[in-house]
Amino acid sequence: MKILSIETSCDETAMALVEASGGVKDPKFKVLQNVVSSQVALHAPFGGVVPNIAKREHLKNLPVILDEVRSSTPRGELNSVGVIAVTVGPGLEPALWTGIEFAKQLYAKFKIRNSKLKLVGANHMEGHLYSFLLEQKTANPKSQILNPKLYPAIGLVVSGGHTILLLMKSLTEWKKLGETRDDAVGEAFDKVARMLGLPYPGGPEIQKAAAQGDPEAVNFPRPMLHDNSPAGEYDFSFSGLKTSVLYYLRDRAMELNSQRGVQLRYDVAASFQKAAVDVLVAKTMRAAREFDARSVILAGGVAANQLLRETLHDIVGNTEVNSHGRIRVAGARGRRRAIRMHFFAPSMEFNTDNAAMIAAAAYIQILKKKNRRIAAQANLTL
Ligand code: KG4
Ligand code: ZN
Repeated sequence: MKILSIETSCDETAMALVEASGGVKDPKFKVLQNVVSSQVALHAPFGGVVPNIAKREHLKNLPVILDEVRSSTPRGELNSVGVIAVTVGPGLEPALWTGIEFAKQLYAKFKIRNSKLKLVGANHMEGHLYSFLLEQKTANPKSQILNPKLYPAIGLVVSGGHTILLLMKSLTEWKKLGETRDDAVGEAFDKVARMLGLPYPGGPEIQKAAAQGDPEAVNFPRPMLHDNSPAGEYDFSFSGLKTSVLYYLRDRAMELNSQRGVQLRYDVAASFQKAAVDVLVAKTMRAAREFDARSVILAGGVAANQLLRETLHDIVGNTEVNSHGRIRVAGARGRRRAIRMHFFAPSMEFNTDNAAMIAAAAYIQILKKKNRRIAAQANLTL
């Protein structure tokens, strides 16, 4: 099945052409086209995304991107599209509507040639969650994740708007274990970057600055790390961490303007990044232990963060589940009966917003026979 997908929930206008096959236990995706047009430079002066600018730019970009997809697709291939998929939420309402209206028009046009054509509304967060299944050009060998032995899995979905921890019984069944009570982790990266005078989006900038700083320089708080109460065990909070960076910088105005200022900013970036990653990793692994997880799936824009990816990759890779499903650290006795835990994260090109992941979410939704309203749903969640 060929899916033409559209994503306009925030500040990227994106379109993709994806070939999907397989059933709900082994869906496979081949990304034929993946075009992302970023508006980052336009929103940067405002320090965040301005909904009406996003809307205006999506309206301008969508026909241009469609032409780009058309011109790089072999003749006739678009005629065999069976599904048009579009993000219906969560996201900025005016931005979502531009994609939805464009998808409806395209559907009406394509439907004349193909009476079986479907229009499917997809959840942006499901797109992030399934983005580890996407590979460019070839179907993903990683689909071994669908082996039921790899569940339960813990899903950590971290973006500019969400921080969610999931317990997944299968690829399509999950329970939310926790989420942020205030700022999303990506939002905290963006706000701290702003305090340090770095441009939007802040995540990649903090990562760059942190590479030259000392992560142990400042001992920022690790919010809710030691909250073991049933109500707070798997929830996150990043607003306190952000505020303590603010106070730390406010108390050092003189030093920041001195020669040492540059290094101090690097140290703050590195220490903030370390504190945020420590909390995400600790809560994910706590859940993995409690629920005897066989794998960990990382998703969302913040999954591009190298420290987060590498720390989780190493810690999951050094963890084994024995034949009774109990987790222990590799190397202990009884090794032969132990199964290694698996770690999955999207390829770098599919971490941040893109439309290929929307095609994946739409396909899995079709397999589940679930319909969504084709209307903007700004607060849709997982
Ligand atoms: O998933 P995404 O592209 O958009 C939303 O759905 O929100 O995520 C964007 C977020 C931004 O907050 C951005 O700063 C963050 O992901 N981000 C990163 C990195 N790359 C992007 N955060 C930390 N480290 C990165 N390398
Ligand atoms: Zn996103």
